[in-house]
Amino acid sequence: MKQSSLSLLCFCLGYLGCFWFHISMAQNATNATTDPSEVSALNSIFQQWGAQSVALWNISGEPCSGSAINRTNTYPDIKCDCTFDNGTTCHITQLRVYALNLTGRFPEELLALKYLNVLKIDKNFFTGPLPAWIGNMSALTLLSIAINAFSGPIPKELGNLKNLNILSFGSNNFSGTLPPELGNLINLQRLYVDSCGLTGEIPSTFAKLRNMEVLWASDTPFSGKIPDFIGNWTKLNELRLQGNSFEGPIPTNFSQLTSLNSLRISDIYNGSSSLGFIKNLKNLTDLVLRNALITGSLPSDIAEYPSLWILDLGFNNLTGQLPYGLFTMSASLTHLDLSYNYLSGSLPPWVTSTAQLNLVVNNFIFDSSNTTYVEVTLTLLLTTTTSINEK
Ligand SMILES: *[C@@H]1O[C@H](CO)[C@@H](O)[C@H](O)[C@H]1NC(C)=O
Ligand SMILES: *[C@@H]1O[C@H](CO)[C@@H](O)[C@H](O)[C@H]1NC(C)=O
Ligand SMILES: *[C@@H]1O[C@H](CO)[C@@H](O)[C@H](O)[C@H]1NC(C)=O
Ligand SMILES: *[C@@H]1O[C@H](CO)[C@@H](O)[C@H](O)[C@H]1NC(C)=O
Ligand SMILES: *[C@@H]1O[C@H](CO)[C@@H](O)[C@H](O)[C@H]1NC(C)=O
Ligand SMILES: *[C@@H]1O[C@H](CO)[C@@H](O)[C@H](O)[C@H]1NC(C)=O
Ligand SMILES: *[C@@H]1O[C@H](CO)[C@@H](O)[C@H](O)[C@H]1NC(C)=O
Ligand SMILES: *[C@@H]1O[C@H](CO)[C@@H](O)[C@H](O)[C@H]1NC(C)=O
Ligand SMILES: *[C@@H]1O[C@H](CO)[C@@H](O)[C@H](O)[C@H]1NC(C)=O
Ligand SMILES: *[C@@H]1O[C@H](CO)[C@@H](O)[C@H](O)[C@H]1NC(C)=O
Ligand SMILES: *[C@@H]1O[C@H](CO)[C@@H](O)[C@H](O)[C@H]1NC(C)=O
Ligand SMILES: *[C@@H]1O[C@H](CO)[C@@H](O)[C@H](O)[C@H]1NC(C)=O
Repeated sequence: MKQSSLSLLCFCLGYLGCFWFHISMAQNATNATTDPSEVSALNSIFQQWGAQSVALWNISGEPCSGSAINRTNTYPDIKCDCTFDNGTTCHITQLRVYALNLTGRFPEELLALKYLNVLKIDKNFFTGPLPAWIGNMSALTLLSIAINAFSGPIPKELGNLKNLNILSFGSNNFSGTLPPELGNLINLQRLYVDSCGLTGEIPSTFAKLRNMEVLWASDTPFSGKIPDFIGNWTKLNELRLQGNSFEGPIPTNFSQLTSLNSLRISDIYNGSSSLGFIKNLKNLTDLVLRNALITGSLPSDIAEYPSLWILDLGFNNLTGQLPYGLFTMSASLTHLDLSYNYLSGSLPPWVTSTAQLNLVVNNFIFDSSNTTYVEVTLTLLLTTTTSINEK
């Protein structure tokens, strides 16, 4: 009894402590002012970007005030840390300028924001190159400049940003190759470079990126063999290599990527793979290996992938019958595409309930004892074929 009331008291005191802490935080934040060099840098940046008209920012006054710092807002926003100099100075730590139709370049004034750890300026109309001095923005943990029209090479100095967890420069107009120096970004967890314009091989230095969880690298002409060091990125959740110029085979050590949820590899030439490597990838939700020179049969344990809802193995050299397990997956699997293979045998009875189905161009045999299914299936097949022919 005594003990519990004591701990209750401790709890109350602890709660009050927290309470006071919040009050003092708030007061400090209210009284503190933004580092003047950051205020003028921000004003200059916004002027260059033509962002004066954005009502949400307190541009001419105190940037670390008003609704721009209010994270309940959607973009744009700023985040400040106002605990500096005994709670009298705020430094800007995050800057998000998302989807505001802004134009301009990557301005040098950003260097004045020395405490900036998040810079997100996606979905605008920014142009020009990424300058080498971007490598001096050493506090950055997140750099996201996707869906703009930046051009030129990716500066090797980007490899100096050792604190980066997330790097995103997809959907731009860059040229050249991935600098090997990016392999120094050993804290990188997410790399989005899809549609970025770069060509060439993924540098071997990327073998060091063992913390990688997400790599999207589709729709840009990367080439060379699919690197086998990716098989050592055992934290990988999502891998997308579609519409590149990669050569097969898919490395067999991809069997180690047991954390994978989403695996999408398509348009591979020169080197066939079997599906043996997916044996232990039981957490897959979507498996898209389309036009990827896959040979052999479908795994007999296909029903043991409980989360699988997209299975697209179209345009390969798959042979054999559909495994019985596939016939039991009507509840989970909503998108099944096995078109353009050499599969044979009969079709699952639930094909009618599958939201999206494509089984055209195979060698399926229709058993006369399954006429009801066959009729429905044929209708589906004809519908699918027709829609394909119409394209
Ligand atoms: C607020 O400022 C006081 C002094 O003015 C300082 O002792 C305290 O640590 C500051 N609190 C925070 C959260 O920065
Ligand atoms: C904040 O400013 C107000 C009024 O200027 C003052 O009364 C208060 O003591 C200041 N708070 C801190 C923590 O300096
Ligand atoms: C803008 O900043 C000034 C201080 O420079 C402040 O007086 C004013 O209240 C701020 N405006 C808004 C909307 O927060
Ligand atoms: C932040 O948002 C809340 C709710 O929308 C609003 O009441 C509050 O005034 C806002 N604070 C600032 C500083 O804009
Ligand atoms: C911080 O503020 C407190 C309260 O205003 C003051 O007593 C203390 O001397 C200040 N410390 C420094 C290093 O300025
Ligand atoms: C950006 O431009 C598009 C097309 O003109 C427009 O629909 C959209 O509202 C603009 N967005 C902003 C934030 O101004
Ligand atoms: C970037 O940092 C390097 C090395 O510290 C320094 O020599 C260079 O002047 C800096 N560049 C800019 C534009 O500040
Ligand atoms: C992309 O960059 C090239 C030069 O590298 C340029 O000719 C082309 O116009 C740019 N395209 C777009 C959409 O910006
Ligand atoms: C994968 O990691 C192991 C152990 O660190 C290492 O021996 C092997 O060479 C690596 N494989 C590749 C392809 O990098
Ligand atoms: C697979 O998913 C389950 C449930 O989300 C999770 O507990 C497990 O750790 C995952 N396995 C791997 C190897 O990531
Ligand atoms: C796939 O089958 C076609 C036609 O039978 C054949 O020409 C091709 O070599 C096969 N490709 C692979 C990777 O087995
Ligand atoms: C088709 O009919 C055969 C014989 O009646 C039966 O064994 C088989 O399970 C049926 N196939 C399907 C998909 O229902």
